Amino acid sequence: MGVLLSAVSDLVASVVGTLTQSRTNGSSLLGTLLFPLLSFYLAGGALPDGYPWGKLTDWGTNPYTDYPRTGVIRTYDFTVSRGAIAPDGYQRPVLLVNGAFPGPLIEANWGDKIIVNVHNNITGPEEGTAIHWHGFLQQGTPWEDGAPGVSQCPIAPAKSFTYEFVASLYGTTWYHAHYSAQYSGGLAGPIVIHGPTQAKYDVDIGPVMLSDWYHKAYLDIVKAMLAPNGSPKVFSDNNLINGKMNFDCATAAATGDKTPCTNNAGISKFKFQTGKTHRLRLINSGAEGVQRFSIDGHTLTVIANDFTPVKPYNTTVVTLGVGQRSDVLVTANAGTAKSAFWMRSNLTSCSSARQPNAVAAVYYDQADTNKAPTSSAWNVPDPGTCANDDLATTQPLFPMAVPAATYTRTMAVELFKNASAVTLWKFGGVSMRADYNQPVLLQANRGNLTFPPEWNVVNFYANTSVRVVVNNNSPASHPMHLHGHNFYVLHEGPGAWDGSSVVRPSNPQRRDVQLVRPNGHLVLQFDANPGVWGFHCHVAWHASGGFFSSFVVKPKEVQQMHIPLTVQQTCRDWSAWTSRNVVEQIDSGT
Ligand code: C2O
Repeated sequence: MGVLLSAVSDLVASVVGTLTQSRTNGSSLLGTLLFPLLSFYLAGGALPDGYPWGKLTDWGTNPYTDYPRTGVIRTYDFTVSRGAIAPDGYQRPVLLVNGAFPGPLIEANWGDKIIVNVHNNITGPEEGTAIHWHGFLQQGTPWEDGAPGVSQCPIAPAKSFTYEFVASLYGTTWYHAHYSAQYSGGLAGPIVIHGPTQAKYDVDIGPVMLSDWYHKAYLDIVKAMLAPNGSPKVFSDNNLINGKMNFDCATAAATGDKTPCTNNAGISKFKFQTGKTHRLRLINSGAEGVQRFSIDGHTLTVIANDFTPVKPYNTTVVTLGVGQRSDVLVTANAGTAKSAFWMRSNLTSCSSARQPNAVAAVYYDQADTNKAPTSSAWNVPDPGTCANDDLATTQPLFPMAVPAATYTRTMAVELFKNASAVTLWKFGGVSMRADYNQPVLLQANRGNLTFPPEWNVVNFYANTSVRVVVNNNSPASHPMHLHGHNFYVLHEGPGAWDGSSVVRPSNPQRRDVQLVRPNGHLVLQFDANPGVWGFHCHVAWHASGGFFSSFVVKPKEVQQMHIPLTVQQTCRDWSAWTSRNVVEQIDSGT
């Protein structure tokens, strides 16, 4: 442990980056002192009662039915292309949105419509793509969900697709490619939806993206993992805060690696206003690791988990599995106007990490921003449980009692070796493999509800309240994510569920990702939103290895949906491109 700590302090000895921001992060300004503070809401719409959302509140409004119809449209233009950057000083090929890593911030008010024109400009070689808007409900618009083989065909090279959806929930989230493990190669960015908050704060710092980082291209990682006798355990090389961290290049050189690498590339920096309260929007946008986030000397007040505002609770460390978000309030009252502190995010013992500890610098108003902080970390050891914060403490602000389930399904998680000695995941008995040319949603819309077993489709028919029990028969933790819903988290823990215990049935935690512990259980329940929705492990490598299923919810209503012709056109473009090119689908496709 002592060795590890001193290695980290060497890494952060310099806070003056040796690389320019464009070499480390392309056109992104995240992580620099130039990134603007966010406002409390965007201008450009009506302000009934002084706010875009009028009298609606986070404690008294049911967001699943009563979001504001603002009539405002926020339009973004995304060009996806290849690039070569060095977020931690080690140069690697990446996929970028508008030349930026992390990708540009999408911002809107609660109830606005978001339009994103996505242009697939991936060349050398060409590759399909599709972008998922994590956590949005897509009520009545499941074809905008961005999961290839599930809700759409991939966007063919040189083609575009226009996503259009309502921000019917508010808070902090992110977008990411859902094509193979593309997002682990850079194709991800933050989303902020402004909405009401009972909790008061002065300054919105904006997104704080926490991500494990890999020095190899995603396709090479997936190929090695899915080779005969390959290992399902993929080790990250570094850990980033807002896309930045230093790296000790000698560790790469020692393995004979001649890739361009620069020490002390530069870490992220934040400015705090002395005495004021700041909102930080934490996002685990990584591929595998569970993050433990803290700021030396400061207590964090959690006010939302995923898209669910919660009764504020205090903690020193916030734990986030991949895909999860927490909005935290931090008051700059731990020193004088000249003080500086380390922000830390450590990958837990449940993660496969070569360099697990990320840092960034937090500077009060008058601190010297070229000097490294000297603060020390909270002494709160990793409990080693790979679990989220206790469900007893995470209480939604808008209370909803869990209804009686109309149907319960149990799904087991297993690792196995197939006949070619490839290690894969089974979820509910099947290792999933998508057909990019035949998205499940389009089949269901045509009334075709018989699917090849390897698509791992589960039809819940007309059920309104579906309970799912996940039994994790593997020694790894898994961030379980359901598209199109905020589920109730009824129970989680080690071993098997007792079949009846529910944490706070009058108002259980609701969110869209929840960790299931190694060899543990997770019980969740959702109120049916008609569509076809991925339910999967958000570890990119596990989803690639088949840990994915598609839920068909209220198929009769899906059949009546009028899907825009552009969705069909995307399939025609994909089929035309694939008739001329071989698609290297080496994984599940998602
Ligand atoms: Cu964050 Cu299936 O997605």
